[in-house]
Amino acid sequence: MAPNIFITGGTGYIGGTVLDTVVRQHSEYDVTVLLRKVPDDFSKLADVIADAAAKAHVVVHNGDSDPEKSIKALITGLLRRNEPSFLIHLSGNGIVADWQEGTHIGKLNPKVWSDIDDIDDITSRPDRELHRNVDKIIQAAAAEHGEKLKTAIVCPPDIYGLGRGPGKTVSAYMPAFLEASKRLGAPFYTSDGTNTRSWVHIEDLMTVYLKIVKAAAAGGEGADWGREGYYFASSQEASQIDIAKAASKMLKSNGMPETAEPKAISLEEIAGTYVTPSGYRIGTYMFAANSRTRAHRAAKLSGYSPSAPTVFERMEADLLAASAIRAVRL
Ligand SMILES: NC(=O)c1ccc[n+]([C@@H]2O[C@H](COP(=O)([O-])OP(=O)(O)OC[C@H]3O[C@@H](n4cnc5c(N)ncnc54)[C@H](OP(=O)(O)O)[C@@H]3O)[C@@H](O)[C@H]2O)c1
Repeated sequence: MAPNIFITGGTGYIGGTVLDTVVRQHSEYDVTVLLRKVPDDFSKLADVIADAAAKAHVVVHNGDSDPEKSIKALITGLLRRNEPSFLIHLSGNGIVADWQEGTHIGKLNPKVWSDIDDIDDITSRPDRELHRNVDKIIQAAAAEHGEKLKTAIVCPPDIYGLGRGPGKTVSAYMPAFLEASKRLGAPFYTSDGTNTRSWVHIEDLMTVYLKIVKAAAAGGEGADWGREGYYFASSQEASQIDIAKAASKMLKSNGMPETAEPKAISLEEIAGTYVTPSGYRIGTYMFAANSRTRAHRAAKLSGYSPSAPTVFERMEADLLAASAIRAVRL
């Protein structure tokens, strides 16, 4: 019988690309996708999600990383099954970012996180860290039901490159950076701008996803699950000052003359450069923090060797794509 794969987040940047990749590479899989129209009473959607999960051998949850109700509904559904099943969840490098420690804002932090060597620390991050709420729910379910519920957490850094899904095809960082740069009159940084984040091209990330989904569909062999099932995907890193310098050149060559040089802004200003729809000021996280990670597990298990163009090679195309979706005139 063909494995049944239930994919959430198919209208999104990452989930849409995962959907496209899985369907193209494995036309033999029976794929079900969640398309949402969120009802006022979430419990109705929770039932739909749980029922779909109960029919799936493998759930690939690429919806927003943080809502707890969705992950709980997925786990509830998967635990209704008699045979072992697999849950692959999308988290993010925000979990190890140092923005709340405050010691290296706008400056290089020498700490580099390995998803093998640092697994104890990664799986016990303080509750205040981004994505920790849902990572914790998954790790608790894996600890309690590990024989029946095999879990993996894919934890990408900032992603670039064009997505291939039916909905959103542009990532998060470049549109946010471009919009704030326009408001400030130039690409920007704070302090000396040496704070550094890891990056991955969406196509390299898909290599990591495909290996884990294939391993799950085949019964689990070839991937780590449960507490050790934690996968960074980084392929390179870049400092904020280097991103800002490169963006300045590219924006200038696209007709934004006032951005010839990046601009240093204050800590207070940078906090407000990115405000989430729910009102959180997380510009410090986005543009002044360090989150430096290494994809050691994917390299060890499947020889992960990223080969896509770098963030700098893709930056002009990504800024132009970002300007199109945000209607930001260059
Ligand atoms: N993009 C990056 O650079 C990046 C890097 C690392 C980690 N991440 C993590 O990956 C997640 C997704 O990123 P993205 O760039 O793909 O975002 P995106 O393009 O905005 O897509 C989000 C997807 O999640 C769905 N969704 C939202 N709330 C949901 C819920 N409660 N239950 C199920 N599905 C839900 C959305 O569906 P609807 O269309 O129905 O709203 C949409 O399909 C983010 O939460 C982020 O933490 C992103």
